[in-house]
Amino acid sequence: MCGIVGYVGPRQALDVLLDGLRRLEYRGYDSAGVVLLNEKGLEVERATGKLSALAERLKRKPIPGTTGLGHTRWATHGGVTESNAHPHRSCDGRIAVVHNGIVENYQELRRELHGHEFSSATDTEVLAHLIEHHYSKLKGHPLKAVSRALGKVRGSFALGVIFADYPGLLLAARVNCPLVLGVGKGENFLASDLSALLKYTRKIIPLEENEIAKIDAEGVQIFDRALGKIRRRPLEVPWKAETALKGGYPHFMLKEIFEQQQTIAAEVGGRGEALDDVRIPRDIERVVVVACGTAWHAGLVGKVAIEELARLPVDVGMASELRYGDAPFGPETLTIAISQSGETADTLAAVRIAQEAGSKVLAVTNVKGSTLSREADQVLFMRAGLEIGVAATKTYTSQVMNMLFLAAHLGRRRGALAADRFQAIVREARRLPGLVERVLEDTAGIRKCARKFSRGYDFMYIGRRYNLATAFEGALKMKEISYLHAEGYGAGEMKHGPLALVDDSMTCVAIAPKGRVTEKMISNIQEIRARRGRVIAVATKGDRSVRSVADHVFEIPDCEEMFSPVLAAIPLQLFAYHVATSLGRDVDQPRNLAKSVTVE
Ligand code: AGP
Repeated sequence: MCGIVGYVGPRQALDVLLDGLRRLEYRGYDSAGVVLLNEKGLEVERATGKLSALAERLKRKPIPGTTGLGHTRWATHGGVTESNAHPHRSCDGRIAVVHNGIVENYQELRRELHGHEFSSATDTEVLAHLIEHHYSKLKGHPLKAVSRALGKVRGSFALGVIFADYPGLLLAARVNCPLVLGVGKGENFLASDLSALLKYTRKIIPLEENEIAKIDAEGVQIFDRALGKIRRRPLEVPWKAETALKGGYPHFMLKEIFEQQQTIAAEVGGRGEALDDVRIPRDIERVVVVACGTAWHAGLVGKVAIEELARLPVDVGMASELRYGDAPFGPETLTIAISQSGETADTLAAVRIAQEAGSKVLAVTNVKGSTLSREADQVLFMRAGLEIGVAATKTYTSQVMNMLFLAAHLGRRRGALAADRFQAIVREARRLPGLVERVLEDTAGIRKCARKFSRGYDFMYIGRRYNLATAFEGALKMKEISYLHAEGYGAGEMKHGPLALVDDSMTCVAIAPKGRVTEKMISNIQEIRARRGRVIAVATKGDRSVRSVADHVFEIPDCEEMFSPVLAAIPLQLFAYHVATSLGRDVDQPRNLAKSVTVE
């Protein structure tokens, strides 16, 4: 997925680039590099491994210059080596590019570029040579050269380009990968996302599909592919720069888990008005949720709630599957796309398919100006604030809250939910920030339990109804940050196969808060215990029946069943966090992962 950043203005660009890369490192951390323009020409430094390796080199030998680009890599084409690290340069070293995305036809282009010498195994390097080819054919003219070169490229990219012949100029372009421009006073920026820019400006311009931007210290100019000028005013983003700091916590993930009292309060406050603005076609017959990963789990909670409260059938499609399937979308289908980043490639592809078939798309996203927020017909913005940890925590519970509210509103509008029940749901929602606070107050037991269970190898998370998704999400958290094997199952599915895995080496995490299926969950726990499996249960405080059958209990306060996935997710986030840290894992930047999956 990679992160790119660029600066032009009066400051020493290196500081801005390294600072931006630090904030984008969650997008990839296989290698990093920078290029700066100074009297020697384009000076490049690259290093494999985390950004700190590059920063260390640059500390010893800083590169001067007030215009530059930086890159942090998540390897797709070519191994993790210094020669494959970005920036990549043209043969004469006078053009350099940084790239997020994939050049699908790079082999074909490489063959066509006779006489060009390549020094990496990446798809990206072909862009530097292709631009060089057009630049020399045009005898200069960087903008035209980039536009012509991109005309030959298939794939997805967010691109930053710098020319040794043009001091104080950067070019940027995008197709299917996010790129934002930051507008400052006498200085301007580009970045894969705005977290890299917040320290310098809150005025951003998201670049749209197929656009090219010319950035210098005086301003930014945007062009379409035919180089026609496009006028666009900057957006003002509400997030503060401090949001991107750890605030005394050892990891962003822990900080973000503990922020959930505020984020849930933000979701509850004023949500009524936001939902009143959502126009849902009266004649919809079904809902399709499209999402990936954690967002898909939030969709599963939404399914149970919408079917219960609004009596509408809901399919929850994995966007990566749905985009190649034949799901019948149409005007009678409401498509709900859930994506924290609003940039997940598969989710965007599924949205486009739904829209082409005439379905209206309602987006639930956290990022203003994201591609999803711009392409959807309507948007419900989550109020989770910036999330930096690769593992989604506070944004998951925010997504769940939005889906629950949406279900209640749909139910009300369709007449499926009585007014007094609706009011009871609203009253219960108002209690939630306080209940989240209670979950977060007492976490010592979870830490202790995590230390004990980090010696295990296999975890099986089970749940039903509203907490089937909690089982999937709990298992995902565990595997992505601890690298231990963890799977989520519907508890009722155990006898259909997974029970064969249970013996005294298996730890089952049973999500069994008070609700319609608590007794069923207790039976499932008994079956696991009878086969010597160990059980950690998430249960409602004071529920003796669950406590009597489990080895350990993580308690959550009593609440309406529909809100239990919000509360139950939190101890499981903490459990995964403490298991991972006791194993010495890098929880904010787990191996092989990146926060936004902007390529297929
Ligand atoms: C979960 O911890 C991951 N970060 C991942 O599954 C994520 O939820 C998924 O990639 C979807 O991202 P999105 O919400 O930004 O679309």
